[in-house]
Amino acid sequence: MKDEICIHFLQWALPQMQLRWQGFRRVRKQVCKRIGQRISQLGLADEAAYRDYLRSQAPEWQTLAALCHVTISRFYRDKIVFNQLVSELIPRLCEERQRQGEQCLHCWSAGCARGEEAYSLVLLWYFVLQQHYPQIALSITATEIEPIMIQQARKACYPFSSVKNLPAEWRQMAFTQSNSHYCLHPDYQRPVTFLLGDVEQAVSTQQSYQLVLCRNLVFTYFSLERQLQFLYKLQYLLSAGGVLVLGAHERLPEGSNGWRQWRQRLPIYIRE
Ligand SMILES: C[S@@+](CC[C@H](N)C(=O)[O-])C[C@H]1O[C@@H](n2cnc3c(N)ncnc32)[C@H](O)[C@@H]1O
Repeated sequence: MKDEICIHFLQWALPQMQLRWQGFRRVRKQVCKRIGQRISQLGLADEAAYRDYLRSQAPEWQTLAALCHVTISRFYRDKIVFNQLVSELIPRLCEERQRQGEQCLHCWSAGCARGEEAYSLVLLWYFVLQQHYPQIALSITATEIEPIMIQQARKACYPFSSVKNLPAEWRQMAFTQSNSHYCLHPDYQRPVTFLLGDVEQAVSTQQSYQLVLCRNLVFTYFSLERQLQFLYKLQYLLSAGGVLVLGAHERLPEGSNGWRQWRQRLPIYIRE
């Protein structure tokens, strides 16, 4: 499908799925390619015929929404954010847990793709932080809407391009190389529980988290209304004083109450 035609199509279709065109602008090529393939698979002539198809076949909107899932990720994405987590934020959270007599730091990686973000946190924990907080256990719930991503996350084998941002010695210690892939040792997989689920459905009503990573999903692709609904839900899932981490180019919408930005220019917020 020609770029111009796809742009018009996305500008028409995305708002109807409560998604933002601005979020897709830079990554539209992969989405347009999938939509083109879907049009061929359905035997339709062109994008106009696909619009008609969507108008007459309501379930097709769900298929289209799945075609719009952008699954790019890598280990240690946005190093500056991980550096803040390790130098200041996780130590603060651990000290608070110790003061409260708690023994576990609960984290949620929302929209976890193939587990790169959750496992990056595990590596930070084992290689840097755990020695300072031997009484605290790390527990990460990682959720994702695409079943294939969850399967791959549980396998935990990655091409070099995914792990290249990690310090070389961590790569050597935590992974074994197999057929040009880097496979994470099971010891480093243990703190993570992967669950299939929509970020907008509550992960657990009993569990509250001290740290939530919701990067490059809700605050890039979702409409403002969905962002605000998600934030409202987070107030119940994230403990007071807990930390919310967004993607490097994401910020909370104007007027979001109950959140304090950790530092100017950093996509990190504290729940008040
Ligand atoms: C761009 S990736 C971001 C991965 C990781 N958080 C990061 O920043 O590197 C977004 C992931 O969210 C998943 N996703 C999309 N819509 C979702 C939803 N409604 N609920 C849960 N996951 C979703 C996609 O399948 C994709 O794997």
